Amino acid sequence: MAVGSVNPLRAGLRLGRMPEPSVMVIFGGTGDLTARKLMPALYDLARQRLLPPAFVVVGVGRGQMTDAEFRGQLRGAVAEHSRSRPIDEDVWRSFAERLFYVSVRADEGYDDLRRRLGQLDRDLGTEGDRLFYLATPPAAYVPIVRSIGRHELRNGDGWARIVVEKPVGHDLASATALSHTLHEVFDEDEIFRIDHYLGKETVQNLIVLRFANSIFEPVWDRRYVDHVQITVAESLGVGERAEYYDRAGAMRDVVQNHLLQLLTLVAMEPPAAFDANAVRDEKVKVLRAIRPIRAEEVAERAVRGQYTAGFIEGEPVPGYHELAEVAPESRTETFVGLKLFVDNWRWEGTPFYLRHGKRLPKRATEIAIQFRAVPHQLFSADAREGLEPNTLVVRIQPEEGISLKFGAKVPVQGVRIRSVAMDFVYDASFLIDAPDAYETLLLDALRGDATLFTRQDETEEQWRLVDPIIESWRSGQLDLPDYAAGTWGPTEADLLIGRDGREWRQP
Ligand code: BG6
Repeated sequence: MAVGSVNPLRAGLRLGRMPEPSVMVIFGGTGDLTARKLMPALYDLARQRLLPPAFVVVGVGRGQMTDAEFRGQLRGAVAEHSRSRPIDEDVWRSFAERLFYVSVRADEGYDDLRRRLGQLDRDLGTEGDRLFYLATPPAAYVPIVRSIGRHELRNGDGWARIVVEKPVGHDLASATALSHTLHEVFDEDEIFRIDHYLGKETVQNLIVLRFANSIFEPVWDRRYVDHVQITVAESLGVGERAEYYDRAGAMRDVVQNHLLQLLTLVAMEPPAAFDANAVRDEKVKVLRAIRPIRAEEVAERAVRGQYTAGFIEGEPVPGYHELAEVAPESRTETFVGLKLFVDNWRWEGTPFYLRHGKRLPKRATEIAIQFRAVPHQLFSADAREGLEPNTLVVRIQPEEGISLKFGAKVPVQGVRIRSVAMDFVYDASFLIDAPDAYETLLLDALRGDATLFTRQDETEEQWRLVDPIIESWRSGQLDLPDYAAGTWGPTEADLLIGRDGREWRQP
């Protein structure tokens, strides 16, 4: 498909209408997220002509900068991080004309910002519609939201929405408090809490796989599924973010949000409609049905670990404790393994094993649905030697695709069975690059579609589940096992699943 032509498949799950004219106001306009994710995604949307002609971005930051300097800085970021390189000069030129910068150092700065937004509405026809984006460190969220309210940055003539980046709080109480502050200025349906995993094409495809096909749903329950494994493995360490990470840990950073989102999409009931509230109602029901891990069960159903020095792809890497920003006494987990149950009609008794870690042997995110063995064996143990359980694997990344493993007869005399796979590979079937998650999510936020964003009750249920585990780990009586970088986590993780007579898949 030629660069610049519009492919509706790229526009998220719903064949999209063009967003209305609007201004996107990015707090944290000179920050890392804006440079690495937001601007490249907006540029890529502009390249595909998915943004309205009257669309303007106002970056807000503390430093002084002219519009021209801001544009220059972002050009470098887009050139480095956009998925369509090199930059298309014509697209960039018209896109860059719509980028502006406003410095807000103190409270009065917000009045300048209001005037500037009003001016842009008049000059460029953006009609008062505003998408605010919190891309700052979380400590700035509350003051910014209050300033949006106090300085009347919403224009009563248009719509206003706000996108909130994770982490949304650091526990249940802080997440609820943040929602209360947001509600001082925005209604819940104007709040878009972002979890970029929901914008990933293969994550959305999970919904399609389940609810646009008739062959999977009948076997998608406790009667046919033996267990589910969800893995979010990363070979990278914590990079430049050790200071943040050491306070957060793997549970808050990935499990509370991305991993639990994947679980809810696997486990949810078919929603009554494909719209924001129907889908999120079903996800919340799953979260509410998850059996809480009580303090006395943490040792048995939750595992944590911290990596020590080791090797990734043959290269030596330092241990977590050796990082300069990490406190010598840090007990922050870089690995989490969980065994969860969804106590409802569909899933009663079916374990969901979840794991996530930094510095594992490879980057691999996948969901594996392992089916039960046949009720009666016709074939001898010898014949079945090469037969593994039927498994449906949804590969979220990399090499996005879906594969179904089943037994087939080996073409020799007599019966010998071996596992083979039917494989769907995204790239091979569609021959196009999948959009980046931020492209999908920004477009949805501009269109006002919150289906792929997290609602307040959803976030709160996620925290309700992980808080007691974190608290129990914090109390310091449980071991913090270690694992060498480049291995699949501590031995305790193998025991978590091994005690049930099962083992982790090697993605
Ligand atoms: C982020 C976490 O939300 O997700 C990171 O803060 C993590 O620590 C990242 O590496 C993983 O996202 P992806 O898209 O690379 O799988």
